[in-house]
Amino acid sequence: MSSVWDPITVGRISLPHRFAMSPMTRSRAADDGTPGDLAAEYYSQRAALGLLITEGTQPSADGQGYLSTPGIYTDRHVEGWRRITQAVHGRGGRLFVQLMHVGRMGHPDNPPHHRLPVAPSAIASGETLHTRNGPQPTPTPRMLTADEIRATIADYRHAAARSIEAGADGVEIHGANGYLIQQFFSPNANTRTDAYGASMVNRARFGLEVAAAIAAEIGPDRTGIRLSPGSRLGGIVEGDDHEALYLHVVEELARLDLAYLHIAHGGNDALLKRIRAAWPRTLLVNRINRPLEAAMADIEAGLADIAPVGRWALANPDFIERFRRGAALNPPDASTFYSAGARGYTDYPRLADSRPAI
Ligand SMILES: Cc1cc2nc3c(=O)[nH]c(=O)nc-3n(C[C@H](O)[C@H](O)[C@H](O)COP(=O)(O)O)c2cc1C
Repeated sequence: MSSVWDPITVGRISLPHRFAMSPMTRSRAADDGTPGDLAAEYYSQRAALGLLITEGTQPSADGQGYLSTPGIYTDRHVEGWRRITQAVHGRGGRLFVQLMHVGRMGHPDNPPHHRLPVAPSAIASGETLHTRNGPQPTPTPRMLTADEIRATIADYRHAAARSIEAGADGVEIHGANGYLIQQFFSPNANTRTDAYGASMVNRARFGLEVAAAIAAEIGPDRTGIRLSPGSRLGGIVEGDDHEALYLHVVEELARLDLAYLHIAHGGNDALLKRIRAAWPRTLLVNRINRPLEAAMADIEAGLADIAPVGRWALANPDFIERFRRGAALNPPDASTFYSAGARGYTDYPRLADSRPAI
């Protein structure tokens, strides 16, 4: 039986235990998408989590949907991320940049270019998004042409190269939570009739081509991918064939030899077990809303190799030490998840900070 305290090698990196930091958008980058020094402090404070998967980071200008999310495609972005990777490495942590293209989950008010969001098809998500001018419905996006799909794949590839140039240990492709790749998977967001739509194999194609392009660019052993089978975030309703689609995707990803597969898991354990059986390498399972007493359960049951944690890591820079000692955790403050500045970002206390002075 594996223990959460067993070390593990993932692609080119060695990790001291089986926890990791789940990707979390924190919306504190500059308007041009450059992450600041506070982000270097935030991530390096959490280096003991071993593998830090960053907030969703746009691979291109059109990939941005939310306010103040970072990018990784310009020289300034690379400089900003380099300060972060150096700070994290200085404290012994490892960092994968999560590449997130939001697809239709955007609004022209948010990115500096103010263009309409792009998506597999011109179908609005039906969701409301926080914008510069308050909450607004997401608009009907513009459908990507076949040429633009090729250009978008090239953008992901370029962003992966720039992540490595910035000192990242790898990238995680965000194929989950209703963003561009899952929009291609889902028949209620993708009604294309070309090679990227209609059949299950065609709907899977875009995500697989992104993965293949990134693996070719930076090496499969520095490439991970996150999927969320069955998730309805972003107005997604997957087809009746969604289990077959995910098993096809996992089998094709396995051929690429990627460093890891990361499942954001909302509940279908039967499918998770089939994915586990079909995936020959490291499997990360982030069980949403998992109770603390079950934090180690998937590792001990052999259902996962690594258990990324989200909000516990956000609110506890010393989560690992607290968990080892059975100490109480700081509760996360949702009101500062996406706010500005240090409050609720870099000022969560460590255990030592709250000890009474002698
Ligand atoms: C503030 C916040 C931001 C998030 N942003 C992202 C993101 O950028 N990319 C992503 O894949 N998941 C994102 N998530 C989802 C988390 O990675 C994780 O799956 C979720 O919080 C459930 O895990 P938990 O119960 O351990 O927090 C976010 C979650 C939170 C709370």
